[in-house]
Amino acid sequence: MAKFGTLRDLQLRGKRVLVREDLNVPLKEGAVRDDTRIRAALPTLRYLIEHGARTVVVSHLGRPDGLRKPELSLQPVAKALGQALGAEVRFCDEAVGAKAEAAVAALHDGQVLLLENLRFYPGEEANDPQFAAALAKLGDLYVNDAFGTAHRAHASTAGIAADLPAVAGFLMEAELQALSSLLDDPAKPFVCILGGAKVADKIGVLTNLMGRCDAFVVGGGMANTFLAAQGIDTGGSLRDKDLGPAHQILAQAKAAGVAIHLPVDAVVAASLDAPQEQTRVVELVLDASVAPLQGGEMILDIGPRTRERFARVIETAKTIVFNGPMGVYEKAPFQGGTAAIGEAIAQATRAGAESVIGGGDAAAAAHALGFADAVTHVSTGGGATLEFLEGRELPGVAALQKAAAR
Ligand code: 3PG
Repeated sequence: MAKFGTLRDLQLRGKRVLVREDLNVPLKEGAVRDDTRIRAALPTLRYLIEHGARTVVVSHLGRPDGLRKPELSLQPVAKALGQALGAEVRFCDEAVGAKAEAAVAALHDGQVLLLENLRFYPGEEANDPQFAAALAKLGDLYVNDAFGTAHRAHASTAGIAADLPAVAGFLMEAELQALSSLLDDPAKPFVCILGGAKVADKIGVLTNLMGRCDAFVVGGGMANTFLAAQGIDTGGSLRDKDLGPAHQILAQAKAAGVAIHLPVDAVVAASLDAPQEQTRVVELVLDASVAPLQGGEMILDIGPRTRERFARVIETAKTIVFNGPMGVYEKAPFQGGTAAIGEAIAQATRAGAESVIGGGDAAAAAHALGFADAVTHVSTGGGATLEFLEGRELPGVAALQKAAAR
């Protein structure tokens, strides 16, 4: 695992601590719709409050592209953060400059201030040293807790770490610990569960984990591409047009002795909005004379035999990563597959396995279907988690490592 300083290494009382959080949360009608990332930031913020720091929180929200867009103001997030913390969170509608500096100067020990959306300023995404220096003026110390944004080389995630003593927050630490345990000597058997739309999106993860895991369990749209590459008819189902990458992965897995478990049956329907009674289960067989799907039918979930087979593989695992749903879990008739896999992961975890939900869609599915609390770790990252699992260096983490080596 990467070496970096942590919050515990710092003297905090009376210090202005600039904390980069990822408070990029979904909003609806001016209110926070999902506060997962807010709750994930609490351990670091509580620790800072308890240790008498003057906490200055910075974050981005959405993609305003350097423009001030009122609908992407962090003001509603300040309110939600205050409620979650059970403490006042002040808000300043600037992120740098005289107004922000005055708001910081007005803080007492143990108080918290949230500054306006960093991406209202073009210098943030450009990683402009002048913008980083303007931010650095607001703190004596810098804490990066924004794992979800660690794959971006921006002023508040990378540049600023050169200007202030820089350490990781508790969320950053927990994410890196959980995700590193998948890549660095995972307990075996290690099973990687992949789902989601496209093989092309997960090629990097498949390739990087190929030498590390014992088996891939594949569902969702990406399984259709693998099935098609094996010559199985998938009718009008979502799949990649180019079967080349799937062929390549299948060949690599064979050479490496890694099993790729694919669906043997599926829940199909002619429409995503089909009610339960208009769905049916079909066998997915390699037989040119059989076309399992009819008319415009699509594969929308893994079938019951597949659920059982996948569960058997998952339940023997000592390390598990779940990186995508098995079907259209947002719709009741097609959530059974993902729910069954979630139950198998929960069971393996109860039996001692280390289980990690790999962010993005996978985390949303785990929360929606109620198995997020039954696993070892749910990553708050989307792109950051994917890039980490691909084995890529995250600029936000690299900056902390560099700071630790100074
Ligand atoms: C995310 O939601 O994945 C992070 O907050 C990063 O957001 P971005 O993709 O807009 O950089």
